[in-house]
Amino acid sequence: MISVPDHLAAALREALAGVASPDEMPAAAINACQDPRFGDYQSNTAMPLAKKLGKPPREVAGRILERLKVDDLCEKVEIAGAGFLNFRLKPSFIANQLKAMAEDPRNGIRPAAAPRRMVIDFSSPNIAKAMHVGHIRSTFLGDALARLARAVGHTVITDNHLGDWGTQFGKLIYGYKKMLNPQALAANPVAEFERLYKEAHALSEKDETILTAVRQELANLQAGDAENLRIWKDIASQSLQQFDRAYQRLGVSFDHTLGESFYNPMLKEVVDELLQLGLAEKSQGAACIFFRDNPALKDAAPMIIQKADGAALYATTDLATVLYRVREWKTDEILYVTDARQQLHFKQLFAAVEKWFASKPSAGQWRPPVLRHVVFGSILGPDKRPIKTRSGESIKLEDLLDEAESRALQIVTEKNPALSGDEKRHAARVIGLGALKYADLCQNRNLDYLFDWNKLLALQGNTAPYLIYAYVRIRSIFRSAGTAVQPPSSGFELNTPEEWVLARHLIRFSDTLHEVLEDCRPHLLAAYLYDLACKFSRFYEACPVLKEAEPLRSQRLALCEIAARTLKTGLNLMGIETLEKM
Ligand code: ARG
Repeated sequence: MISVPDHLAAALREALAGVASPDEMPAAAINACQDPRFGDYQSNTAMPLAKKLGKPPREVAGRILERLKVDDLCEKVEIAGAGFLNFRLKPSFIANQLKAMAEDPRNGIRPAAAPRRMVIDFSSPNIAKAMHVGHIRSTFLGDALARLARAVGHTVITDNHLGDWGTQFGKLIYGYKKMLNPQALAANPVAEFERLYKEAHALSEKDETILTAVRQELANLQAGDAENLRIWKDIASQSLQQFDRAYQRLGVSFDHTLGESFYNPMLKEVVDELLQLGLAEKSQGAACIFFRDNPALKDAAPMIIQKADGAALYATTDLATVLYRVREWKTDEILYVTDARQQLHFKQLFAAVEKWFASKPSAGQWRPPVLRHVVFGSILGPDKRPIKTRSGESIKLEDLLDEAESRALQIVTEKNPALSGDEKRHAARVIGLGALKYADLCQNRNLDYLFDWNKLLALQGNTAPYLIYAYVRIRSIFRSAGTAVQPPSSGFELNTPEEWVLARHLIRFSDTLHEVLEDCRPHLLAAYLYDLACKFSRFYEACPVLKEAEPLRSQRLALCEIAARTLKTGLNLMGIETLEKM
């Protein structure tokens, strides 16, 4: 399959070369048309160019049109409105694309023109603490992006950058030594660690001698005391085992789980180098990076990379982490998937890395990676504030997953009481967890969204249950058909408007994935799939399939097949499974 937008953009660039000089040349923008009455694709390129040339936009559009060579793809190109160019694809071209998609085991997914080595840093909870909603969103988004990026041929390295180091370990170790409840530990280690921390914290607030003892535990850990290291490792490994159970349930995996502690041996070297290069400076005993020449950052507090007592910080670790990922993994891009509260941190980190890599003694040896903060908003509860449990605590991931499955089990049982117990439980898991992931991924990640069980589990609307159900229905057509599906060897000959609408949509699947990755926006894929399910259902209402005579029957079955495959592939790319029965 060829990429229509890429192909049209190339043709447009060529036409523009005859109309504009190189320094007047606007970007050859091609967008999919939302309204099919205007055609399949649209370009507004004539407008900015007309402004530069001081000519009426429709006249400029006309001059572009004269030079535009797109007959291989388009039946016509029209000038519309203020100077838009509207492209309408040739039916024969659409049919050919559809055939190519049907015959392609990759469902028409085109590899990226320039594959990258990409680290995706996501989930990254803090040990000895339950994952909060922010980590849950990060987990869903990061996993989906990793799957999508791999699908188009990028080399993806996933890394769970655990928060496993910091001053909280003084209190934790103190609590572990004095107050550990072995039964509670066995039942729910992370909850027990949270309790230990809270109690040690409360005690140290009240009692000066305990505060001193807590500080001593931290100092001992940092100095490499064997007993404290053992306790710290135990806390880390028990926390991780608990996180891993959730990851397994969710089908999420990581290539690496290098916590912050992993970078400890590099921190001194990093701070020294930044001081030596003059990028960091001492201020009141601390080592800081100021961004005086950066308009966006000059008024914020500086980035502290070493406290006056010599301790390193979150930012120091992140600097070392970039260096490690470039040095060891040869990465050329890093995505950080965290909530919006860390925006300043990442802006400073990215600005610091840029200066650092440009002036490193070995600059030129490694290219600085492209750094992107894939930021997201909050999940809101019914009171429109960040979601909490009824008692005002933060929601625990495991509770959320349990509730999703048990609510889905009710729905499955009502819908299809004939399924066996195992089948019901399996369906409930796929639907419940799928609904939870989808509710998150179908939202524009920059926005907050309202969490609502009834909405996300609804069998109608833009939900995972609706899409999974749409898939199940198509699969049941094949069970009734009893025959294997072959794409028509002579090519598709579509005739009804519903078939055309469906076909036009299907052939945009690969483009949609590329569009998603441009700015890390899985909700565009969700919107595509929902649209697909709606268009399929209109097709299926209007066009008989099994009752149709050959060769139409086979052709329509082939359309069903591509639609099912696309739904399944698309959902899987968001980390969502499908069912054969429901
Ligand atoms: N552990 C951090 C938190 O819970 C997230 C880490 C994100 N990744 C990073 N390289 N800073 O907020």
